[in-house]
Amino acid sequence: GKVAVVMGGRSSEREVSLMSGEGVLQALRSQGVDAYAFDPSERPLTGLIDDGCDRAFLILHGGEGEDGTIQGALEYLGVPYTGCGVMASAIGMDKWRTKLMWQAVGLPVPAYLLLDEKSDFDSVIPRLGSPVFVKPSNGGSSVGVTRCRTGAEVRAAYELAARYDPLVLAEQAITGGEYSCAVLDGKALATVKIEPATEFYDYEAKYFRDDTVYTCPGLTGDAETQARQLAEVAYRVLGATGWARIDFLADEAGGIYLLEPNTAPGMTSHSLFPMCAREAGISYEQLVLKILDTTLE
Ligand code: DAL
Ligand code: MG
Repeated sequence: GKVAVVMGGRSSEREVSLMSGEGVLQALRSQGVDAYAFDPSERPLTGLIDDGCDRAFLILHGGEGEDGTIQGALEYLGVPYTGCGVMASAIGMDKWRTKLMWQAVGLPVPAYLLLDEKSDFDSVIPRLGSPVFVKPSNGGSSVGVTRCRTGAEVRAAYELAARYDPLVLAEQAITGGEYSCAVLDGKALATVKIEPATEFYDYEAKYFRDDTVYTCPGLTGDAETQARQLAEVAYRVLGATGWARIDFLADEAGGIYLLEPNTAPGMTSHSLFPMCAREAGISYEQLVLKILDTTLE
């Protein structure tokens, strides 16, 4: 049957989703799948029924595409879709509530504070160390994220982040390295180490710069095995299904701190999930078919 690649949407990651969606669409077509692009910011989801589509490949990033809203609408319409369900999507889009869940089962996360307009911004760096990352709890692709070294910077960063979500976090910087781990159908594929040429792995570095260094697998020996196990546990605790990418940091001693899940991971030419899959011997085209297959469960 027909597969709708649901892409675009209205979130701050719309442009990223269009890039991911284009890649997915081409890959599905190259494998003989009757696939077409569907942008829910242009048409209501009931259009999927009119189109006679029998499955949706969800590649909306951020906002209502990744937060369970569209997943709920598809459940209601009876259209099978790729990836996480309503609950895992909703919690996974909220960095604070994901941390609460992971902490509750003893998984390691960086120290953090919740900020609001009444916060004592000058106390943040003394409490968490320098630098700190200030970020909207709901978001992705580092949109609205700032690295701060002073109270004044924390205040300005709060104002920016609060434009994206009323819930704003200040998070301790963990400086041993930035990593991510792709999990497909509950099984970790590989980790990837990310070394941006910029101060942190921001939007430019994620999608436009070609000077970020990626190493896959990101760790070696037992460290790689342990990181993969941790990513699988984090995935399971969230209640993820289909696929998800777990971002994490390491400290100088190799200790791991979970950052957040991505329940509709990027599939652009620069994205991490396809890199991890390749390391596991899975091409981009094979990966897209495997993700599509998870709608059948
Ligand atoms: N939020 C972006 C799309 C990612 O995690 O890949
Ligand atoms: Mg992330």
